[in-house]
Amino acid sequence: MTETLTIRRPDDWHVHLRDGAMLQAVTRHTARQFARAIVMPNLSPPVTSVAAARAYRERIVAAVPEGMAFEPLMTCYLTDDTEPAQVRRGFADGVFTAAKLYPAGATTNSANGVTDIGNIRAVLETMAEIGMVLCVHGEVTDDDVDIFDREAVFIERVLSPLIADLPQLKVVFEHLTSADGVAFVEGAGVNVAATITPQHLHINRNAMLVGGIRPHAYCLPVAKREAHRLALRRAATSGSTKFFLGTDSAPHPREAKESACGCAGIFNAPFALESYLAVFEADDALERFEGFASEHGPRFYGLPLNEGRVTFRREPVSVPETLDAGGTALVPFHAGETLGWRLDG
Ligand code: DOR
Ligand code: ZN
Repeated sequence: MTETLTIRRPDDWHVHLRDGAMLQAVTRHTARQFARAIVMPNLSPPVTSVAAARAYRERIVAAVPEGMAFEPLMTCYLTDDTEPAQVRRGFADGVFTAAKLYPAGATTNSANGVTDIGNIRAVLETMAEIGMVLCVHGEVTDDDVDIFDREAVFIERVLSPLIADLPQLKVVFEHLTSADGVAFVEGAGVNVAATITPQHLHINRNAMLVGGIRPHAYCLPVAKREAHRLALRRAATSGSTKFFLGTDSAPHPREAKESACGCAGIFNAPFALESYLAVFEADDALERFEGFASEHGPRFYGLPLNEGRVTFRREPVSVPETLDAGGTALVPFHAGETLGWRLDG
């Protein structure tokens, strides 16, 4: 049995680092494991300009503990009013790595998101022209669409037409949660890829609803039926270069989760790699972990692979019930469980 596993240092292609005290508290967890991360722009107010992204990047870099090397890759929050020139300039200046499409009202701090994809046609044309990645929160928000169907309906109503309209556009379908999403990405061209979170590989919707309502298992897009989880596991561990690591770690204070209207988001940053590794091991795919964690993402984004290496040892790791975040408690994914691999250092 393998006792250690050494791979190229991974990146996280989707994370929420927040701002202020929360940023100070959570950045270390991501920086401990990942060389780079795509940082989501859904702050309040959102990161919609080159200047705001530059300033946010500086605050993130300042929050990285001494001795850790970590590069935040910034994203532009698209609104109905985003100017193509702003996106073009941010990309050319190396400030924006990607832009994020939040359908208005889809999730946390998405009120300023896009109300109709037609409103950003010129921005998307520019992105296709310059080779800039569009990160997509792939859910419709229509009241008449069941929450468990919102990803599948988004494919049909928004994503398929978009890709047919702009076949050159590079699209990352973020936090994929359904078999429909897997099939769509597999069937699309090389310019369409997807991130997969640890929670959508580990849990189905029962985790949220059986034996009581469990707010710490609630995130968006919401976890779906078991058949969808199994499709995601097959995709992640298949070796296909279209699927790569993106944690969607989304910290909310404990009291904001454990509430009559709890926030969406799972804080998985502290043990993200260990969590993914449990999946690859259980599915007998340890040799495909490096591709998923460290190679497919940078190749899709056209960025160099990291030179460093990380080593995991087969040792039990106890995940604490809570972690302190500057005076407020965060409940991590896998709280109270024991995972089977430990990341060195
Ligand atoms: O569960 C989620 N939390 N999904 C998202 O899309 C956003 C995120 C957040 O920012 O809290
Ligand atoms: Zn997210």
